[in-house]
Amino acid sequence: MKHIEWKDHKLYLLDQRLLPGRTVITENVTVEDVCDKIRTLAVRGAPAISITAAYGMVIAAESFRAGDFQSHMEENHRRLAATRPTAVNLFWALAEMKKVWSAADAAEAPALLLAKAREIEADDVRRCRRLSAHGAALLPAGARILTHCNAGALATGGYGTALGIIRRGCEEGKVAMVYADETRPLLQGARLTAYELMEDGVPVTLITDNMAAHMMKSGKIDLVITGADRIAANGDAANKIGTYGVAVLAAYHRVPFYITAPLSTFDLTIPTGSDIIIEERDGDEVRSLGGVFTAPKDVPVENPAFDVTPHELIKAIITEEGVIEGDFERGIRAQFEAAAKG
Ligand code: MRU
Repeated sequence: MKHIEWKDHKLYLLDQRLLPGRTVITENVTVEDVCDKIRTLAVRGAPAISITAAYGMVIAAESFRAGDFQSHMEENHRRLAATRPTAVNLFWALAEMKKVWSAADAAEAPALLLAKAREIEADDVRRCRRLSAHGAALLPAGARILTHCNAGALATGGYGTALGIIRRGCEEGKVAMVYADETRPLLQGARLTAYELMEDGVPVTLITDNMAAHMMKSGKIDLVITGADRIAANGDAANKIGTYGVAVLAAYHRVPFYITAPLSTFDLTIPTGSDIIIEERDGDEVRSLGGVFTAPKDVPVENPAFDVTPHELIKAIITEEGVIEGDFERGIRAQFEAAAKG
């Protein structure tokens, strides 16, 4: 089953909000349908959002009827860009699509944009496979790995970043256990990571977020690997809320903490993580669990969807170009230069 699929001028998306209980594929035929799926986390995870938005721009081009094509595309680009603010992959993919539509007319644009969206999707799978090979090489034998949120097939074009490394490590016989933080408030770890790994036969144990310190202290975690939504030029990395806490715990317990992401997750226009916009989501996500209120309905809450882990707490960043350690700023720049040379 593909979680993102373009067929007969429609975008089919697996509704990740309903997993693992129900497997529902939604049919999306308007840009608003696509925006809604991204906004409500029916599709989520930085690379998956970017691929979805790329197909959204194909829908935009196909829906053009009359008027000025470029303004029509600009307006739809703006709508898709306004869905979620933190994951930079969304803006990266929209910029890639813009290079195509801004140089095309209304008649030729749909086919050119579809080819580009398919390329972005296939490219993400290639990048994830490459970074997974680099990451798996770092795993010790019998590794017990903690991960936070879901950076798996569902969050990407179909292979995964953190879970890609884990999958590859499993194939190499190196993974003894994966501990999945449940990842409140929306439980991406419990609902998606546990589900994905069990489907693949990877040994996984679910823990609540507040158990990580105890697990590390008990010597049950050898390393932590998470994905990222935006990485600044100095290596500071935004990821799902709670990631920073896990990194602090890992530093205290001397457990290596790794971030992994393709280069499409880096934002070299921002020098540090303090420039990353953190999405604030609806308070009811914190007040409730699975649609049931677990707190007074009017209690004030904060609900930042992401936090930023300072690069000092990161042992290494793993990308499709290799492993960056030590001077992150230099290492990141060198990887971009290498990637540009091909
Ligand atoms: O709010 P989400 O579910 O989109 O957050 C997802 C994450 O934080 C992932 O860890 C990140 O996007 C990396 S996915 C390869």
